[in-house]
Amino acid sequence: MSDVYLNGSFMPASEARISPMDRGFLFGDGIYEVIPSYQGKLVGFTPHIDRMQRGLAEIGIQFDWSHAQWLEMIRQLLDLNGNGDLGIYLHVSRGTDSKRGHAFPSGVTPTVFAFTFAINPPPTGLPGSAKSFQVASAQDLRWKRCHIKSTALLGNVLHHQQGVDAGYQETILFNDQDELTEGSSCNAFIVKDGVISTPPLDHQILPGITRLLLLHILRTHSTLTVQERVISKAEVLDADEVWLTSSSKELMPVVAIDGKPVGSGEVGPVWHQAQQLFAAHKFDDPHQ
Ligand code: PDD
Repeated sequence: MSDVYLNGSFMPASEARISPMDRGFLFGDGIYEVIPSYQGKLVGFTPHIDRMQRGLAEIGIQFDWSHAQWLEMIRQLLDLNGNGDLGIYLHVSRGTDSKRGHAFPSGVTPTVFAFTFAINPPPTGLPGSAKSFQVASAQDLRWKRCHIKSTALLGNVLHHQQGVDAGYQETILFNDQDELTEGSSCNAFIVKDGVISTPPLDHQILPGITRLLLLHILRTHSTLTVQERVISKAEVLDADEVWLTSSSKELMPVVAIDGKPVGSGEVGPVWHQAQQLFAAHKFDDPHQ
């Protein structure tokens, strides 16, 4: 059984415990490194730690171990695990919070975890020593699969925090073509001249259940016009009303974007109508 490092202590891997409320588990909110070590000799130690420190700084995790502190922990971990040909996995998450929320919590201590794993002896490059791969080819879709409700939410967390840092509750997002996609943790709707529109389902947005229920309720129980279509940023900024939807927010009216009022700057009449319809019918199952 290998020994691991967790939050200041070395212990058998079987004894290491991390809370499921850890943001690394809930949001993928952390940074990791893998450093190879051959018989106790590390490859690229300084640039690996440099990259980890850059990543931590970029996502706003305050964890300021020096290279010497990392090295001391790694040396002890390698000694405990026999100093053979080992990969060293390092992981720092934002830490364990008491509740789940996208915004960075205050007062939590980062979780620091490290373990080793066996790696092959280093390739020599000598004749007859080569191993080779066969590979598949694919279009790079990272991370253009926002329709998957994945727990890898760091991108969402960083966008959410952008809004929080500016003093707002959410951040609405646009793609490279300046088309509306969604909020960092919700879907988005606009209203213009009484017509309700929301972006169509594709890889750019999560197929929200609140969105689904709302569209169904509006189409079944009102004469309001509802469209699923591409919406430009200009249309959003010119909308009479903007709403966000999610299971925790239901329908949330947006009264300002980047400090500029949406429509009149007040909660709009179509929102009142839609929220009342939603309240009346949200327990209906749309598939029954
Ligand atoms: N967020 N889009 C994103 C990126 C979301 O994270 C969510 C939900 C939604 C709305 O989906 P639904 O209506 O099914 O809740 C859209 C949840 C509430 C969260 O992460 O807390």
